Amino acid sequence: MPAGSDAFAKSIFDGIHRPTTQYVGYNPSAIITPDSVEDDIIFEQSETQYDAGSNTIFTTSRQRWHNAEGLYSPWLSQGEFRRYYELAALRTLVSPDRCYVLYSLLKQAIHITGNIWECGVYKGGTTAMMAAILRVKQPTMKLYLFDTFAGMPETDPTKDLHQQGDFADTSVEAVAQYLRYDARCYIRQSLIPDTFVGLEDERIAFIHIDLDIYQAIFDCLKFAWPRISLGGFVVLDDYGFPTCPGAREAVDEFFAHERCVPLCLPTGQAVVFKGVPGRQERM
Ligand SMILES: C[S@@+](CC[C@H](N)C(=O)[O-])C[C@H]1O[C@@H](n2cnc3c(N)ncnc32)[C@H](O)[C@@H]1O
Repeated sequence: MPAGSDAFAKSIFDGIHRPTTQYVGYNPSAIITPDSVEDDIIFEQSETQYDAGSNTIFTTSRQRWHNAEGLYSPWLSQGEFRRYYELAALRTLVSPDRCYVLYSLLKQAIHITGNIWECGVYKGGTTAMMAAILRVKQPTMKLYLFDTFAGMPETDPTKDLHQQGDFADTSVEAVAQYLRYDARCYIRQSLIPDTFVGLEDERIAFIHIDLDIYQAIFDCLKFAWPRISLGGFVVLDDYGFPTCPGAREAVDEFFAHERCVPLCLPTGQAVVFKGVPGRQERM
């Protein structure tokens, strides 16, 4: 750290004042703002998830000890992204760097044929951010939302660490209200893949899959992938997370038979772009 600056810790709290994200870092100018990490250099970040009884389900820690200073990290700065992210911050489990991936790819997806899908909504954090981006940049696109809104369904103990009933502290009414009953949002409550029935003719420009468990992710890819438009893409939130081993297994198993390859990001996400690999471009 430069002379004159001290390390500090800052926390972000959820609606009932539980610390959900904690940062350790410093500010190169030695100016400390308690409620923002703007302009801070962050070298350690922990995210905590709780169950309905406020017991910690798990904590994810990341450390960035090497050459942290000077790393371009637009998800930490103010500006357009931050304004959208504020809508997600208190209601999402998805960290700012992962939200920045969604924001960037959504800005490209709005130029592709099809609608936007999110599978795994929970309290509607990432949904609200994406809905706001669409509202401003592409108001004709629809946002399809899929979740039980009653927590995880049955999981497979041989593949998943999550258990039935995790994430049950939400409701479809609360999410619809948070989205201000946005007419662009089509909420389908119940079990994936049952909630896909009737959407066989859909075209998808971009899908955010944040389901955490093997079977749901596999079923989701099976239905959605053939419906992704050329140039469209899939973001898989939990691909690299040690807490979601079934997620990576489902993705690797599904794409083993496809030509497109999941790109694993340092955020823990994977992105799959739908192109036509191997084909010569026509002159
Ligand atoms: C990690 S949470 C989603 C987080 C959310 N995107 C956010 O911004 O915080 C995972 C969600 O997947 C949902 N889910 C998992 N399997 C499902 C299935 N088969 N059908 C419907 N929802 C499912 C759970 O109910 C839970 O709300």
